Amino acid sequence: MPQAVTMEKIVSFCKRRGFVFQSSEIYGGFRSSYDYGPLGVEMKRNIKEEWWRRIVHMRDDVVGLDAAIIMHPKVWEASGHTETFNDMLVESRTSGRRYRADHLIEGATDIDAEGKSAEELTEIIQSDDRIKDPMDGGRDFAPVRPFNLMFETYTGPVKGPENVAYLRPETAQGIFVNFKNVVQTGRVKVPFGIAQQGKSFRNEITPGNFIFRTREFEQMEMEFFVEPGTDEDWHEFWIEERWNWYTSLGLNPENLRRYEHPEEKLSHYAKRTVDIEYNYPSVGWSELEGVANRTDYDLKQHANHSGENLEYIDQTTNNRYYPYVIEPAVGPDRIMLAFLMDAYTEEEIEGEERTVLKLHPRIAPIKAAVFPLSKKEPVSTVARELYDDLKGDYRIAYDDSGSIGRRYRRQDEAGTPFCVTVDFDTMDDEQVTIRDRDTMRQERIPLKAVRGRLQDLISA
Ligand code: GAP
Repeated sequence: MPQAVTMEKIVSFCKRRGFVFQSSEIYGGFRSSYDYGPLGVEMKRNIKEEWWRRIVHMRDDVVGLDAAIIMHPKVWEASGHTETFNDMLVESRTSGRRYRADHLIEGATDIDAEGKSAEELTEIIQSDDRIKDPMDGGRDFAPVRPFNLMFETYTGPVKGPENVAYLRPETAQGIFVNFKNVVQTGRVKVPFGIAQQGKSFRNEITPGNFIFRTREFEQMEMEFFVEPGTDEDWHEFWIEERWNWYTSLGLNPENLRRYEHPEEKLSHYAKRTVDIEYNYPSVGWSELEGVANRTDYDLKQHANHSGENLEYIDQTTNNRYYPYVIEPAVGPDRIMLAFLMDAYTEEEIEGEERTVLKLHPRIAPIKAAVFPLSKKEPVSTVARELYDDLKGDYRIAYDDSGSIGRRYRRQDEAGTPFCVTVDFDTMDDEQVTIRDRDTMRQERIPLKAVRGRLQDLISA
């Protein structure tokens, strides 16, 4: 029977196999910061490349962008982040700890705290005896206050208010402020999208659950500009499209669901938002990706604040309008955690236990491993030549240490979908054995066919 994975197990597995390390570990770690190790960096790159391939390269109507992280501070005034990108913070006077007020209330009561004002939250916390400081059980709380999640910094040598700048809390605004540039230079016509990947930063009050919620993370966002009136259909299209992307890469659809944001919980810019949620073990159903209908809010805000006319002119009808925007937005770190948890399997086969990461070949950090049955010539030379031939195409491993069984186990844990063994018979029949990670079936194929076979298997 496969064992259910837990967060604890994934965290220690990720460290042991070099997927994810705690940042600055030799200094005791730095809370909520993580580093991606040799296998993790490959896997995350694959996730980002698959997203880009599907959203940009495979479509005629989406182009890419790579905007700066530190932008003009007015961008954040226009977008509403300076004013409203807040979490409600409450400080316990007994322990000195700070909590997100909604988490504190919802953890102790059945009250829905989302969307409530600081005054309303203070009233609930002060009056409801069930709400206690999780650290020491105290009930002496300071009034709730909004806490802006943007990281502040200064540009240039003078640390004065005139030089305050922010690390972007979302990649989306880099796209909106470049809308005109892309329309003028990109040979695009509505409906079209602009996609971007990159780091975002949020000074989360309660980061946690490993790489699920961190203060520095990556985002992959696409703003799809459409004619008003067609937005609802396009919204459905993108929800469906994004759902299919996950399942096409092997995520178990039973662990996915849609969550419709109730109207009163919508962000200030959204007309409708549907999250694709994943049932993270040890965490529960949580947002993997959000697909929002952002209306014409952002373009109009930037037009008003910058004084630039950001209307779109339809060249055939001469109609001018502000396009509506459909935005699928997700973090590759969160996708990585979902893929790892979905793929992690401990199983017993014919009396032997093995840990195997059943990742889709496109996501697997290493696509294939080449094993010489012996370290001696000529087996090792032939194996080395095969490895050299394959290694420019993908990340390939070469392993000649330990028994073949042990080598298989190592690659199973790393999620490597195929292992190719060069043995003594290869010298006579010019054939090798290719072994499938999940079925463990082995097949003999011509040495010359390995490259083509791997290509077919990986891109299937
Ligand atoms: N532009 C819209 C936007 O930023 P969001 O729901 O706040 O919307 C989009 O973020 C996605 O970014 C989330 O669905 C999640 O995958 C990822 N994300 C957000 N905050 C994160 C954090 N603190 N750590 C890791 N990923 C995060």
